[in-house]
Amino acid sequence: MPKIQITAKGIKSALKKYTPYLSIAEYIWNGFDAQASEIKIDYVSDELGNLESFTISDNGYGIDHAKLQEKFEPLFESKKALENKLKKNQSAIHGKNGIGRLTFFCFARNADWKTVFKSGEENLTYDIYANAENINLYTGVSAVPRKTQLPIGTQVTFTGIHGLSGFSLQEKLVEFLLKEFAWFLALNSGRNFSIIINGAALAWESLIAEREESQISHEKSQTIFKLTYLRWNEKSSNEASRYYYLDEQYCEKWKEATAIKNNSQQFYHSIFIQSSYFNSFAFKKSALQENQPPLLAGTRSDSQFRFLQKSLANLLRIKRRPFLKAFAQELATEYTQKNILASDPHEKLTLTIQTLAEIQPRLFASLNLEQKKFLTNTLNLLLQSNQIGQLTSLLHSIVELNPEEKAELEELFNHNAKLD
Ligand SMILES: Nc1ncnc2c1ncn2[C@@H]1O[C@H](COP(=O)(O)OP(=O)(O)OP(=O)(O)O)[C@@H](O)[C@H]1O
Ligand SMILES: [Mg+2]
Repeated sequence: MPKIQITAKGIKSALKKYTPYLSIAEYIWNGFDAQASEIKIDYVSDELGNLESFTISDNGYGIDHAKLQEKFEPLFESKKALENKLKKNQSAIHGKNGIGRLTFFCFARNADWKTVFKSGEENLTYDIYANAENINLYTGVSAVPRKTQLPIGTQVTFTGIHGLSGFSLQEKLVEFLLKEFAWFLALNSGRNFSIIINGAALAWESLIAEREESQISHEKSQTIFKLTYLRWNEKSSNEASRYYYLDEQYCEKWKEATAIKNNSQQFYHSIFIQSSYFNSFAFKKSALQENQPPLLAGTRSDSQFRFLQKSLANLLRIKRRPFLKAFAQELATEYTQKNILASDPHEKLTLTIQTLAEIQPRLFASLNLEQKKFLTNTLNLLLQSNQIGQLTSLLHSIVELNPEEKAELEELFNHNAKLD
């Protein structure tokens, strides 16, 4: 039995933050990391909720026997991570620590991997076994893979289950998986990715609060971008609001955060942009010099990419507006209730605070009571001495305002002037 290079105690202490559900997610990610499109979770429990069987299967490329030792041996230095150090802008590979497969000990005594991989024209299969008492050991390296008619993929069977029951799975698994995987299933919906629990596909669409599909076209270059805007009911447990760029085959080429950072307005969104234009595109500057044929690759300075960026920013601005309005209104109410604004505040001051909160909610995000009072009094002073017009340049020196935001401020000042 080959040893993993760390003691069982060391492994368990490194993995103490794991709960059964987080662990289940690790096995699912391992399937997706291995290019699976379908993950199946199957369990059977008796009437007391005791789990009689529990398996997680994927249709990924399996674990090549020749590479088993290399894949299962080095701890905390997952191969996937080494290969993908520079790929934090891609979702395809989740694994990075080289420990996910060991987390089963938090809910089961044993884990058995039955894996099928392709070797030349044949499919071969063998088993790997690990148990919680000796988690630094595993079998499989000396196994002789057998020919099989089964399709490629890996099935992990957990036995000696504790800390998980059929009832708790029934109650919590779907909710947990939605928060963890809904964005990933949406991202890969063009490729029909799914997670199937006891025969029922995880209904990731149920987490969608708003969906809008549109198509924009950059006339000059005749580039077409298909946009899917999704707003989520709930915050994802592991993914921020992002833009995802997909190629013609709906494969993700790159992802990056949308400009909306401090999201105190619960505006959780994902935007997928699909175009054949991204079949060959240098998202990183260095990719151009490295191995991209510059004539083929689009770049961020292309007029069509800049057109796309503008359209996306505009889309988000429109979609976010009602959230900002609600946020600003709540803020004004809070300021009045907490006597930050005088009990009978000047209409101009309330309006100024509300508009500012709509334009730059970040300004108000983490202020304590004194800071709130200070900001309010300063604004009041500016208003009273007719110097509120200074605010645009003052603000601009702190946060960059786009032309639309500047225009909104101007409008506010004009409105204030009319109230005088
Ligand atoms: N279902 C699977 N299909 C194919 N290969 C797998 C599967 N499960 C594990 N592996 C292989 O075993 C390796 C170790 O898996 P493990 O989950 O421990 O680490 P990781 O996924 O690389 O990193 P992380 O700790 O973030 O999960 C993986 O890198 C992968 O090569
Ligand atoms: Mg993993």
